Amino acid sequence: MRVEGREKVTGTARYAYEYPVAGAAYAFAVQAAAGPGRVTAVHDEEVLALPGVIAVLSHRNAPALKPVEDGELALFQSDEVAYRGQVVAAVVAETLDTAREAARLLRVDYDDRPPKVRLSPGDPGLYKPEEVNPSFPADTGQGDPDEAFGASAVRIDATYTTPAEHNNPMEPHATIAEWRDGGLTLHDSNQGASTVAATLAELFDLEPAQVRVVAPHVGGGFGSKGTPRPNVVLAAMAARVTGRPVKFAFTRQQMFATTGYRTPTIQRVRLGADADGTLTTIVHEVVEQTSTVREFAEQAATPTRMMYRAPHRRTAHRLARLDVPTPSWMRAPGETPGMFALECAMDELAFAAGVDPIELRVRNEPDTEPESGLPFSSRNLVACLRRGAELFGWDDRDPAPSVRRRGRKMYGTGVASATYPANLSPSKATAAAAPDGTFTVRIAAADIGTGARTALTAIAAEALKTDASRVTVEIGDSALPKAPLAGGSMGTASWGFAVTRACEALRADLDGGASPPVEASADTTEEVKARGDYARHAFGAQFAEVEVDVDTGEIRVPRMLGVFAAGRIVDPQRARSQFIGGMTMGLGMALMEESTMDERFGDYVNHDLAQYHVPACADVRDIDAVWIEESDPHLNPMGTKGIGEIGIVGAAAAVANALHHATGLRLRDLPLTPAAVL
Ligand code: MOS
Repeated sequence: MRVEGREKVTGTARYAYEYPVAGAAYAFAVQAAAGPGRVTAVHDEEVLALPGVIAVLSHRNAPALKPVEDGELALFQSDEVAYRGQVVAAVVAETLDTAREAARLLRVDYDDRPPKVRLSPGDPGLYKPEEVNPSFPADTGQGDPDEAFGASAVRIDATYTTPAEHNNPMEPHATIAEWRDGGLTLHDSNQGASTVAATLAELFDLEPAQVRVVAPHVGGGFGSKGTPRPNVVLAAMAARVTGRPVKFAFTRQQMFATTGYRTPTIQRVRLGADADGTLTTIVHEVVEQTSTVREFAEQAATPTRMMYRAPHRRTAHRLARLDVPTPSWMRAPGETPGMFALECAMDELAFAAGVDPIELRVRNEPDTEPESGLPFSSRNLVACLRRGAELFGWDDRDPAPSVRRRGRKMYGTGVASATYPANLSPSKATAAAAPDGTFTVRIAAADIGTGARTALTAIAAEALKTDASRVTVEIGDSALPKAPLAGGSMGTASWGFAVTRACEALRADLDGGASPPVEASADTTEEVKARGDYARHAFGAQFAEVEVDVDTGEIRVPRMLGVFAAGRIVDPQRARSQFIGGMTMGLGMALMEESTMDERFGDYVNHDLAQYHVPACADVRDIDAVWIEESDPHLNPMGTKGIGEIGIVGAAAAVANALHHATGLRLRDLPLTPAAVL
């Protein structure tokens, strides 16, 4: 079981907003009711007269912040409004209810202009970013893909779209800020305490050691808490101005404009192949949006650079700078929308060439990473596809679409590949032995609900050659040894590396005769840098069965199976939860999730869970995830690849491909809805 499982199920595990703080004041955010444009007046005197209101913060009175890379954090630094919904003011009051009511009553005047919010492939304002997230070239190419496409026996040229999608962790973005002895203490919901502390120190011009960020329990993030959000800045600023500890949380509705989301994408994919389906050319061109505040360029075409063999290839990303909130990371940014397009196109190619979709992928399996030419540290995509075929019952599948009926339901099955890079970042950790035979491991890691604390306990126990019950792992505090954030599926791999090294050093000290109390520390910077040149990726195969009601168009997914090859699996129970959680999010992407932009006013209109739909238990019928035991010596001492994100990759494509098999309809725009089927 999870080491903090008892605390969580008994409600004693504290989340950011729940810390008792004596004398706390409460802040509530005011969002721009118009934009883009300028704030021309903030009628704060009206609400300051209300009983219980302590302060109104806006560009008129906010303390100056040092500029940081993320312009979304430059809270109240000017009268400019970049998009409707941006935070333009905040009310601080004695109670949350007073703050909320005063924020509602606060009149703000704007000088605004019509928003430009529509993403269009013909937009003359589209530009090529310098790089795409986190640091890949925007465009790549080899050979002559256009000529090769023209000369191909089988050609697919299709455009796929994915809508804006919003991260919705159960715990909203929340912070308690307190200034004490010139320093700043934050209880904050985030994916990495070290990252938040460093950014806040920069913004408020403090020494890094003057900021402490505490976050032992975090109720989900999915990327939206990977970088600090305006909530942290707002709370810290309100606490500074009022001289009180301040509690602040975004409401669920406010999160839709303030805490990031996945950009919508328009993706044109061209595949050219020989008559037997052997690829000669792959072209993947992506159009996506960013804001006027900050550039975020999602790396949607990057998986196309490493999935399949083809002598001719081109990938490209183009951005539109729109009057919208800045998009950001959402579970497997890049791979998630990109593999939807590529894997649907592969299914179209399989159908056009008359080749089984699994066989097509096997036929185009590369020997080395296609664009870089690097050897793969391990690549077991084919093994995943074969094992999945066996478990899912693929081999007697009739490839003909639209020929299977159960009563009012047409049904069919689909497959798609999954991939996610096996990243690693330098980390520090310490391990200490106590005279009573117990051990304490310290690292500023984050457990955002993944079970990282439990996995790190198992990793530490293994390196210490002791029982896990003797090991306590302390995480979630920037005062602990510096660690990278829980993101990019590299948390446990990066932290576990440092934990292993610290525990090995401690074990060696103890074996050499050192007597407790004794402590050892580790920093993996040099070892991470010294790793050999390999292409390191996890792979997987997603299978789905889809049922479509011929009268209502209702689409159901009675079965999903994911087979993954993600290195060594340290903690099977938690790993399965991660895979299944990712696949469930992929099911939501396939059938439900869609943030709808109001083009007149420029804001996402469906900004709560009543209108932004994610799968409920009744939608999730039979989802299973299994894995192939993989031994890869080129990763880290544990042999792990990271499992937080690959579960979502390819899941929506498997559903869309199954929908085609069921109905003969090729739907290329997500989500797949009854209206699109009928
Ligand atoms: Mo993940 S979207 O890198 O937190």
